[in-house]
Amino acid sequence: MRFAGKTCIVTGGGSGIGRATALQMAREGGRVVVADLQLAAAQATATEIAAAGGAAIASQVDVGNSAQVQATIASAVAQYGAIDAIVNDAAMMTFHPIVEIAEADFFHVIATNLGSVFLFTKYGVPHMRPGGAIVNVSSVHAHATTANVVPYASSKGAIEAFTRGAAIELAASKIRINAVAPGAVDTPMLRNNPNVKSGVEKVQGAIGKPEDLAAAICFLASDDAAFVNGTTLVVDGGRLDSLP
Ligand SMILES: NC(=O)c1ccc[n+]([C@@H]2O[C@H](COP(=O)([O-])OP(=O)(O)OC[C@H]3O[C@@H](n4cnc5c(N)ncnc54)[C@H](O)[C@@H]3O)[C@@H](O)[C@H]2O)c1
Repeated sequence: MRFAGKTCIVTGGGSGIGRATALQMAREGGRVVVADLQLAAAQATATEIAAAGGAAIASQVDVGNSAQVQATIASAVAQYGAIDAIVNDAAMMTFHPIVEIAEADFFHVIATNLGSVFLFTKYGVPHMRPGGAIVNVSSVHAHATTANVVPYASSKGAIEAFTRGAAIELAASKIRINAVAPGAVDTPMLRNNPNVKSGVEKVQGAIGKPEDLAAAICFLASDDAAFVNGTTLVVDGGRLDSLP
């Protein structure tokens, strides 16, 4: 029960890795704020948690929108008190070459994937107890990528740099911040990825389950990882280690 008595915000908690993480944290005693753009999906996860005897609320949020992020944090504090864990999981992808993508679409990806990490750190940390932890969800695309996903790959690379720098700043408050870099994970995001469907991005059979990522995220968010700070844990079944 590593999250007993702890308040945990999980963005993207309505689907895939975020959903699995929210369920795992709740199973281990956490009071979970399931935050997602899709309210019905967030509510479904919160209902699943409650049906299993856990504690959760749903919060609709566009994680790239400052006012909405602040509202989600305020509702977490109002419902459960101080925050102990924030999982920045929500993200999006686009599939266009750099010279063709609309400026607004590039900046939308950056705001959603990277801006969200900034906003939840900026506005969440003042409400976090010492011993708290932030876990950011990066991607193997921060390390090796394909054509037409440069906004996504850039945002994920920046998340890992953000994580390193933020760890230095947050150490005095006794708050840790780490990242996971998933490989291919069986979620709607993977199944709907046109590069994966066409074979441009080869997943080579190494496909993980959302629960595999939830296990790593919960480790980093818990006191088991008390001496792990500012780092990125690659969770990809060894995919980055082998040549395509
Ligand atoms: N699935 C993979 O193969 C894979 C690989 C590497 C990294 N990742 C990362 O894992 C994380 C979760 O992805 P997933 O595969 O579970 O995807 P998913 O599509 O199953 O879930 C993503 C969730 O994020 C929500 N979301 C999207 N934009 C949002 C916004 N602006 N505000 C709030 N919520 C928003 C969606 O509604 C959805 O519920 C992402 O950061 C993704 O980049 C996934």
